[in-house]
Amino acid sequence: MKIGLVKEIKVHEYRVGLTPDCVDAYVKNGHTVFVEKDAGIGAGFENEDYEKVGAIIVEDKQKLFDDSEMIVKVKEPLPEEYDFFHEGQILYTYLHIAADKPQAQALLAKKVKAVAYETITSHEGGLPCLTPMSEIAGRLATQEGAKYLEKPFGGRGVLLGGVPGVQRGNVTIIGGGIVGLNACKMAVGLGANVTVLDISASRLAFYDDIFGSKVTTLFSNRSNIVKSIKEADLVIGAVLIPGAAAPKLISKDDLKLMKKNSVVVDVAIDQGGCFETSKATYHDNPTYVVNDVLHYCVANMPGAVSLTSTLALTATTLRHGLNIANKGLEKALAEDKHLLNGLNTYDGKLTNEAVSKSLDIPFESIIF
Ligand SMILES: NC(=O)c1ccc[n+]([C@@H]2O[C@H](COP(=O)([O-])OP(=O)(O)OC[C@H]3O[C@@H](n4cnc5c(N)ncnc54)[C@H](O)[C@@H]3O)[C@@H](O)[C@H]2O)c1
Repeated sequence: MKIGLVKEIKVHEYRVGLTPDCVDAYVKNGHTVFVEKDAGIGAGFENEDYEKVGAIIVEDKQKLFDDSEMIVKVKEPLPEEYDFFHEGQILYTYLHIAADKPQAQALLAKKVKAVAYETITSHEGGLPCLTPMSEIAGRLATQEGAKYLEKPFGGRGVLLGGVPGVQRGNVTIIGGGIVGLNACKMAVGLGANVTVLDISASRLAFYDDIFGSKVTTLFSNRSNIVKSIKEADLVIGAVLIPGAAAPKLISKDDLKLMKKNSVVVDVAIDQGGCFETSKATYHDNPTYVVNDVLHYCVANMPGAVSLTSTLALTATTLRHGLNIANKGLEKALAEDKHLLNGLNTYDGKLTNEAVSKSLDIPFESIIF
């Protein structure tokens, strides 16, 4: 198969969809890999690193798209990329189209066969291609939150761990999944007072078992959310309803209950955000203030730690990518229901049920 590795154009997105080691694996399996010039630079991979393992460096983005049967990326295509695609082309990337109708419509109109990393499942029941990025985003959420609590960055001037004789900062984490767990580990590590809210009793029990009295667990309901955010210095939003837009759990008026210059980090922003006032920001201007609360809502947080993220991402995406290339997409989908769950659009049809509900576009089941 002819595979095209595209340079990301999203602002401050430095990750890349294939490392030179991945390209080596594709080439050794008999495939041709076109790499857009400088695609790996942001993650520390030079063009020569790719050439050494047999990649062909291409400067002309349109030619790369025209010559490739499968496009490998990291982030969803941006509107200026929609026209590069051709009918029947495979796209293998994060899509997050549940909160992005224009993108869904573009992929359907172009009849792109789009496999989304984030809806591929595993037999353990998780989302294996989302997990490493969630782990990174969770750890970064606390790190960024701690930074923006510093006065020069606009925060209340609170050190999360406190010092002897001075109280610790309060961190509230709403959504105790992978992001929440990793945010929690970092916050506990910094010595903060941590509260985790989730709707899942078993998830809260897990926190209780792991962290004991270091973490307070609360059912995520209106009164517990209000109580927690009143006390919090940092609130991290980390809820997920798979394939659907995030529920809005904190309203604009609720922010008035919070401490002045406290910080909210909405990691769920890639699914629309779980605070009413969240709007996606970029690494070059990541924060804004509403009702005296500083918001950090970067939709591609892992892009900030591009090397760690690229290594973690490609370690999980390579196996399915190679299967698609080796067997052809249709055979690979027919043989692997977990990969089939990753298929979001095919031949002009929306093929993921949860995504279709969120977008209000009819779902069409495909059987291979
Ligand atoms: N911004 C970024 O760069 C970035 C990076 C990675 C992941 N994410 C996003 O972070 C979010 C969380 O991802 P994850 O991997 O932790 O998901 P996850 O499925 O592991 O966890 C989600 C948790 O939210 C809980 N939940 C659902 N509704 C809730 C509610 N009303 N109140 C409290 N908890 C609720 C679930 O029970 C679950 O434990 C997703 O939207 C994901 O796309 C963003």
